[in-house]
Formats: sequence, structure tokens, C-alpha cells
Amino acid sequence: MTSNSCKRASWSGQLAFVLASAASAIGLGNLWRFPYLAARYGGGMFIAVYLALVVTLGFTLMLTEIAIGRMTKQSQLTAYSRLRGGWGVLGLVATVIPLLITPYYCVIGGWVLYYLKTYCIMAFSGVSVMGEAAAGSGDFFGAFVASPFAPFGYGMVFVLACAGVIVLGVKNGIEKSNLVMMPVLFVMAVAISLYVVFMPGSGEGLKYYLVPNMDCLRDAKGSFSLALLGKTVLGAMGQMFYSLSLAMGIMITYGSYMNREDSIERCVRRIELFDTIIAVVAGLMIIPVVYMFAVKTGTPVETAMNAGPGLMFITLPRVFATLGAVGPWLGLAFFLLVTFAAATSAISLLEACVASVCDLLGLERKPATFFTTALVMFLATFSALGFGPWADVRVFGMQFLDFFDFVTNSVLMPITAAATCVFVGFVIGPKTIADEVRACGREFRSEALYRVMVRYFAPALVTAILVSETCRALGLFGWSI
Ligand code: PFF
Repeated sequence: MTSNSCKRASWSGQLAFVLASAASAIGLGNLWRFPYLAARYGGGMFIAVYLALVVTLGFTLMLTEIAIGRMTKQSQLTAYSRLRGGWGVLGLVATVIPLLITPYYCVIGGWVLYYLKTYCIMAFSGVSVMGEAAAGSGDFFGAFVASPFAPFGYGMVFVLACAGVIVLGVKNGIEKSNLVMMPVLFVMAVAISLYVVFMPGSGEGLKYYLVPNMDCLRDAKGSFSLALLGKTVLGAMGQMFYSLSLAMGIMITYGSYMNREDSIERCVRRIELFDTIIAVVAGLMIIPVVYMFAVKTGTPVETAMNAGPGLMFITLPRVFATLGAVGPWLGLAFFLLVTFAAATSAISLLEACVASVCDLLGLERKPATFFTTALVMFLATFSALGFGPWADVRVFGMQFLDFFDFVTNSVLMPITAAATCVFVGFVIGPKTIADEVRACGREFRSEALYRVMVRYFAPALVTAILVSETCRALGLFGWSI
């Protein structure tokens, strides 16, 4: 099936691999999903549950994917069948996932670019493009996504920028772009969060975000609710999945460029650490200001803290507008950070697709990038026009973008992750992965944990996500994480 004639690319070292994987993991999920979920599901308690899941389930899934990639030196499309004939279908599903995610993720990247441009204008010219106090930010966003050409145009610029990095290769493209974007992202995140934390009046919001709030586990009558605890755990699990870029083939592809001398176990721990730090810091940037804004304007805090596009493109601009002259500059810094976070994640998604095309067809990077980018641009058209000229078109009652998000995150990713665990746990055996981790005389300290997790707990937990995500997306049983 595979013809991999050209020499496989490799990272220049362990640090480059960790940086690239962290860059993939740190994305919109950290910025617009984690803070909201943490605030909603008990603050510090949610963070503690999330951390426990990251170091167990997240660790297991990520280590598995990286080891499969490094062992086979293949991207996800051909890696499974290399290990065991007949499992190629799993590779195919794992390839369809980034192929469906990349287009809509790039469309959202286009929205971010548009806001970056808007804040540039507002900061440098002083003109308040969104109307005084950004009161019209909802209309501003609505008009943009509904317009016939702009969302498509910005989305295409974003796709082409990512493709430009990919075509340069692993070392010259992905590594070098990360070396610029990741430090800027990190510095911006720390600077903005410090600014927010030291703002007068931020204390209440910080408390709301960080102090464990057990009331979230009590029902209307005030008694402890097991169902609410389950919801919190499932919310944290879904977020971990999303945030660590698991089950999208990315970690298999990135693992396939990894050197055998490097420690997979240590790398996984570091990637998780970086990703979690940025998620927690994102909350420090966002929650206190949104909380203050809610109190000031008399908006219920829960309403103000909505997750997703509403928080980033409507609420936060309103919040920035209440901060006087600093507002546009803070907005500019924030959207620069978001642009980099989205770009580094989109690059990894596109790379997972391009590498699959290279491995399957034995193509060189340039034609493979060209072909894949054209396909991504075509698919992106649906999500880009889905709020505008095609707003009336619905797929199972959903707009295109929401539909692609649902199919991938709620259905295909949990299925792929569960099948991968079964594949490792019962077909090739955990020992195969453990041997790869121990390559070149490395230790595998968490092997006992890994073996139990991959065989029993991980498939069960991942199946629970599949059920809960499907209920959430279809609005069954009042599920609304
Ligand atoms: N892990 C990245 C993020 O948190 O944004 C990348 C990503 C996750 C992209 C999930 C797409 C997705 F559906």
C-alpha cells in the first residue's frame, strides 16, 4: 500500500518535537473552551479533575500515538496497516478527521485574522470600528460572518499561510515558524494575564475561576449530585481530548519524525505541561475581565462566560471597550496571540493530511501540499459560506461548520481513540508500544499505569465521551457541556 521512496524528515531534536507538539495542542481549545468550562464546573475543582485526567488518560493516548508513529515511520493513514494488516480502515478514519477539521479550523482562523486587522486599525488610528464601547460587536461579528466574500477570503489567506509553512518542510517550515510564534504566544499570554490579575477589582473573578466550588456538585435541593459530578468529569475529559490534539492523526505523524534516541515518555509529560499551563493562563486572562464586565453591566455571569465564538468575537471586544485607551492595544495583543495559537494548530492539522498523501502516494512534499491545500480550500468553502449565502442550508439541522465539528469531535475522534486502544491493548499488545518507548535503553517509568489504562480504562472512558458528546450535540437528556 505504501511507497515511501523519499527519506523521511526528522525533527532537529527533542526540544523541536516538544515545541511542535505543544504548538499543535495549544490552540483555540485552550483559549475559548478551557476557561469557560473551568468557570462553569467548579473552578479549581474542574482544574484538579482535568489535571488528573491529563496525566493518566491523556498520557496513555498521546504516548500510544507518538510510539505508533515513531515505530512505523508512517503517518496515520498507513501506520496502522503497517503494524497489522486489515487495520487500514482505522488509518483511513484517522485521516478523514484532520481532513474535515482543517477546513473549518482555518475558516475560524480567518475570523481571527479579521479581528487582528480590526484591532490593528483601532489601536493605531484610534477609530472605533465596532462602534462606541463595542456595543455593536454582536452585529459586527454577525455582519462579517454573513457577508458573501470576506469570511471565505480571510479563511483562504489563513489556509495559504499554513500551506506556505508546510511546503518548506519539517525543519525549515514547521520548526522555524514555531520558534517565532510560540515564544511570542507565551510572552503575550503571561503579559496579558499579569496585567489582568493586577487590575483593580480582579479578585472576585479570580476567586470564581480558581477556588474550588463544591456548589457545582449540588442539585437544586442542595444535596450532592452524582450526575453533576459525572458531567464535570466528562466535560474535563472532552476538553482534554480536544486540547491535546488526540485522535486526529497529528501525534502519529509528528511521532514519525521523532528520533529513536529521544524519550517519548518525557516528551509527553512536557507537552502536557505546556498545554495545561497555557490553558490555565488563558483563564487568568479571560475570566476576571469577563466577570468584572458581567458585574458592571448587570449581565448574569454564566451568560457572559459562554464558550466558543461568542466569547471571543462578541463578549471580549465589549470587555476591551470598557478599558479605555488600553482596550484596543489589549485587543491587538490578544488577537495576535490567538492568531498564533490557531496557526500553529492548523499547521499541525494540515501536516497530518499532507503527510498521509505523501505516504500513500509516495509524492514529494510540494505536490502533496498543493493537492491537499486545494482539497482543504474546497471543503473550507462550505464552512465559510455556511453563515452567509448558504445560511439556510442545514445538515442534520446543523450549519456546515457545526456539522463538521460534530462529526469529528463528537463521533469520529472518540471512535478512533477507542479503536486505537483496542488495537494496542488486544491486537498488537501494550508490550509493542512499551518496547518502542524503551528503545535505545530508555526507561518507561509509568509502564504499569500505561498497560492498565490502555487495555481497560481508556476504552471505557473514551466510549463514555462518545455517548456524552453525542447526547450533547443532539441535545439529548438535557446535556449541555
Ligand atoms: N488542540 C488544538 C486546540 O485546542 O485548538 C487543535 C484542535 C483541537 C483543532 C480540536 C481542532 C479540533 F477539533
